[in-house]
Amino acid sequence: MICIRVPRAFYYLAAVYVAVSLVYTTTSHFLQLHRALTTYYGRTFFSGSLSWLAPGHPETPTPLARTHQELIHGIPSGTVYWNSSTRGPNAAASEDLFLSKAFSTSMRPSKIIPYFYRASDRPAANDVTITTLITSNRFHVFSRLVERYRGPISVAIHVKNVTSHVDELLASLHTLYASSPLMAQHVDVHLIVDAFDRQFNTWRNVARFFARTDYVMMLDIDFSVCTDFRRVIRFTPDLRQRLDSGVALVIPAFEYSNLDEGTNQDVFPRTKEALLNLVNVGRIGMFHASWQPGHNSTDYGKYYVSSPGEVYEVTHYQPSYEPYIVMRKDGPPWCDERFVGYGGNKAACLFEIYLSGVSFQVLADHFIIHQNHLYEETIRKNERKYNRKLYAEFKEEACLKYLKVYADAGILHAERGRNAREQCVRIRSIARVAGQIIESSQGLGSLQD
Ligand SMILES: *[C@@H]1O[C@H](CO)[C@@H](O)[C@H](O)[C@H]1NC(C)=O
Ligand SMILES: *[C@@H]1O[C@H](CO)[C@@H](O)[C@H](O)[C@H]1NC(C)=O
Ligand SMILES: *[C@@H]1O[C@H](CO)[C@@H](O)[C@H](O)[C@H]1NC(C)=O
Repeated sequence: MICIRVPRAFYYLAAVYVAVSLVYTTTSHFLQLHRALTTYYGRTFFSGSLSWLAPGHPETPTPLARTHQELIHGIPSGTVYWNSSTRGPNAAASEDLFLSKAFSTSMRPSKIIPYFYRASDRPAANDVTITTLITSNRFHVFSRLVERYRGPISVAIHVKNVTSHVDELLASLHTLYASSPLMAQHVDVHLIVDAFDRQFNTWRNVARFFARTDYVMMLDIDFSVCTDFRRVIRFTPDLRQRLDSGVALVIPAFEYSNLDEGTNQDVFPRTKEALLNLVNVGRIGMFHASWQPGHNSTDYGKYYVSSPGEVYEVTHYQPSYEPYIVMRKDGPPWCDERFVGYGGNKAACLFEIYLSGVSFQVLADHFIIHQNHLYEETIRKNERKYNRKLYAEFKEEACLKYLKVYADAGILHAERGRNAREQCVRIRSIARVAGQIIESSQGLGSLQD
């Protein structure tokens, strides 16, 4: 008698396969599943946990790692080359070294894994990439954003360096990524593996650093993209010219007054007219109305009465303003990575961008709407206290830096130095010295701009 020993694993595989297949009764689904399973699990079918069995779309790529072990030891560090010289061999550095300098004010040790998943689409240079961060409890919200935006998205995900957490997170991340072909088409995922929670500004910078287009929009994933500003920016040379000459375009943010109403984005308005109807009856208003300084510099009154196609300048900036902006990927300053935790991190980021001379201009036909959810308030309260102090010092430091350097370069009295001139004398602790720098450099500038 011929006895063929079939590994137990095979029975197991076959059982799962048959069970899942039964669910997919039509031939096309069956073929798709067959292809999916052989693509994802051909190599290491049993090395991951069972949640890896979530069938994806055939487009879903294989992740770089499925376990903590693989994540830490299994991904070889790349090499960065400088091909500038044609004579002699190229200069090179390990990717880990390069990244440790690129994010050098972040906490260490930390491992950044760029393009853990890499989207199949190659976005055009003049496209707008949404750069954002997600925590694992918000994955479901992210799917909605991907579905609505249908353009390039660069997302940073923090992975806490603890075995049980990593395995679980990688599995649910794969389920998320396999849940829609739009993910594989548009979303680049970058991981930050370390022990430090809520290094928001580092994560923001990672998402921006690896974006593959000339323009980026810093967005929180809780927002629903309501109007197609992406297409408008891409195909309006005037808007791109503004971005190229150091303007950031503000997309105004709104929120439902009744929190329950703001949970289903399927019914959110998609035109300014529909939005205004809801504003007029008090159902929708500015985002985060309980904290006016956060957004009211957008000047909602002006927004409501502006005419189609209008773009207007933000004239009442103050340092707590944290609008959602589209800007060039490469020009404006990066977010200060010393801000860890809630409070001030985004405002600090926007403060330095503004201070450097970027002007904020509002796209008056466009808007985004916040999807309501509950916040963990206790952590936030404590961290805000620390960051308030840090932000106070950051403003002084940034002001002195830009005033001094722009004065020395002879551009403080040019257009580029206007924001620094106006803002820094309003910070009481440095008002006097700021005034002196501005006064003594008068007449030196305006030659260069
Ligand atoms: C740069 O150098 C690397 C390593 O020598 C090489 O693989 C790559 O093709 C070069 N790229 C260009 C654009 O010359
Ligand atoms: C992550 O943890 C492992 C041990 O579990 C350690 O070997 C590795 O250096 C840690 N990496 C980082 C970036 O913290
Ligand atoms: C924003 O709110 C502050 C305080 O409520 C107010 O003083 C300021 O004028 C407002 N700015 C705009 C542009 O509405």
